[in-house]
Amino acid sequence: MSQPFIVGFGGTTRPGSSSEKLVRAGLAACEAHGAKVRLFDGAYLSTLPHYAPEDPQRTAAQTEFVEAIRQCDGLIIGTPAYHGGISGLVKNALDLLEDLRADARVYFDARPVGLMVSAAGWQGTGITLSALRDMVHAMRGWPTPIGVTVNSLAGPIFNDQGKIADPQVAATVTAQAEQVIRFSHAFRASPALSGQDLQRAS
Ligand SMILES: Cc1cc2nc3c(=O)[nH]c(=O)nc-3n(C[C@H](O)[C@H](O)[C@H](O)COP(=O)(O)O)c2cc1C
Repeated sequence: MSQPFIVGFGGTTRPGSSSEKLVRAGLAACEAHGAKVRLFDGAYLSTLPHYAPEDPQRTAAQTEFVEAIRQCDGLIIGTPAYHGGISGLVKNALDLLEDLRADARVYFDARPVGLMVSAAGWQGTGITLSALRDMVHAMRGWPTPIGVTVNSLAGPIFNDQGKIADPQVAATVTAQAEQVIRFSHAFRASPALSGQDLQRAS
């Protein structure tokens, strides 16, 4: 099996962003399973201009991000819960991926997507994970059965080195990474069955 390429993006611009630490941990777990990985963190995402559908111009950062997603075999996306949904920073990055709409492998098609949410309360974790799953479905992606959620008010999750200290969260991140890697191999072993026009399917 050749090495899968897994892209992670998300987090916030806040130093010590917990959602970004989750994505880092997920990518590290994918790397441990033999993947090549690439992270687009909160600082990177904050350089992406506000997506404008009428403007075809792209910055170098926008192009680099879109190309990485185009090439990847699987993804991990991390967001905080902001007012009961995903953050604008992460949504802006998702909206930019409209550039993949005309691809043969449209948007996130045939790619597993591990989803991670950090919130200041249990309600925020659940509704934001559910909202993000709907978005990934809309973009033809395959959210992994295991989602990672943390409630930042429920106790220390990370240690001083930014690694996951909570054993249950660590086990969930590892299990999700395994699903991302296994499904990425499965999709690569099973090319599209027909010439069905996925861009028109709805
Ligand atoms: C603008 C804003 C809106 C937020 N809205 C919610 C919310 O609706 N529900 C919730 O549980 N937490 C909410 N939070 C708390 C964050 O989700 C929480 O602190 C999260 O862990 C921050 O992620 P980060 O560490 O990656 O920055 C909000 C925080 C901010 C700044």
